Amino acid sequence: MKIGILGAGHIGQALARLLAEAGHDVGISNSRGPDTLRDLAGRLGHGVTAYSSEDAARFGELIIETVPFGHYNDLPTAQMNGKIVIDTANYYPERDGKIDLGGLSESAFMARHLGSARVVKAFNAIASADLESQGDASKALDQRRAILIASDDAEAKAVVSGLIEAIGFVAVDNGDLEQSKNQQPGTPIYGQDATAQQAREVLGL
Ligand SMILES: NC(=O)c1ccc[n+]([C@@H]2O[C@H](COP(=O)([O-])OP(=O)(O)OC[C@H]3O[C@@H](n4cnc5c(N)ncnc54)[C@H](OP(=O)(O)O)[C@@H]3O)[C@@H](O)[C@H]2O)c1
Repeated sequence: MKIGILGAGHIGQALARLLAEAGHDVGISNSRGPDTLRDLAGRLGHGVTAYSSEDAARFGELIIETVPFGHYNDLPTAQMNGKIVIDTANYYPERDGKIDLGGLSESAFMARHLGSARVVKAFNAIASADLESQGDASKALDQRRAILIASDDAEAKAVVSGLIEAIGFVAVDNGDLEQSKNQQPGTPIYGQDATAQQAREVLGL
């Protein structure tokens, strides 16, 4: 699959490397343009190409949005229309500034901002170092670390679950975008190294 990544920081780099290793074509972008990113893209793996954020979004059949939440207004929304968008973001007011979410979860707010994009919350509750190191596709699903996902779109959730399994984790369905509040920072499951069964117990699923 062609995957466009918006953000080449901790999470963007980890996912680019893992997804390229799993055989996907990855386009990655930062805020400063592809010239600043070509060397890094080459090091992340065969099949990783540096783009502008507009071109990465255009390239991706699926998009991973992994820029700090406060930059949500800079996302290339036109190129994201109708596509599955994985939202890894967490909202930290001290980092991102004061943003009125209107009582919505961060991802429901993002989905409203993106319009027709099919938003799936995922990878927000695992530290980038753990994402880099803890996936193991040789393990049975019930032995793997769980990655929580939440979306209003069941088909999009199934696609994202497949990607999660391909990089050695297992997806746990945590409900719709509003329920993604249960995997935001400060919740009991946030940052926990849990199997799927343990994660469901913590979440009360
Ligand atoms: N770090 C973690 O362990 C972790 C874990 C789970 C979730 N998260 C969440 O995931 C999100 C990303 O975190 P991170 O730690 O990976 O961030 P990071 O290391 O600070 O990197 C952010 C990246 O976003 C890029 N960026 C900013 N605006 C952009 C735009 N309009 N288009 C394309 N790229 C843009 C930056 O570009 P430049 O390089 O040009 O500045 C940078 O490459 C945050 O919401 C964070 O809270 C992080």
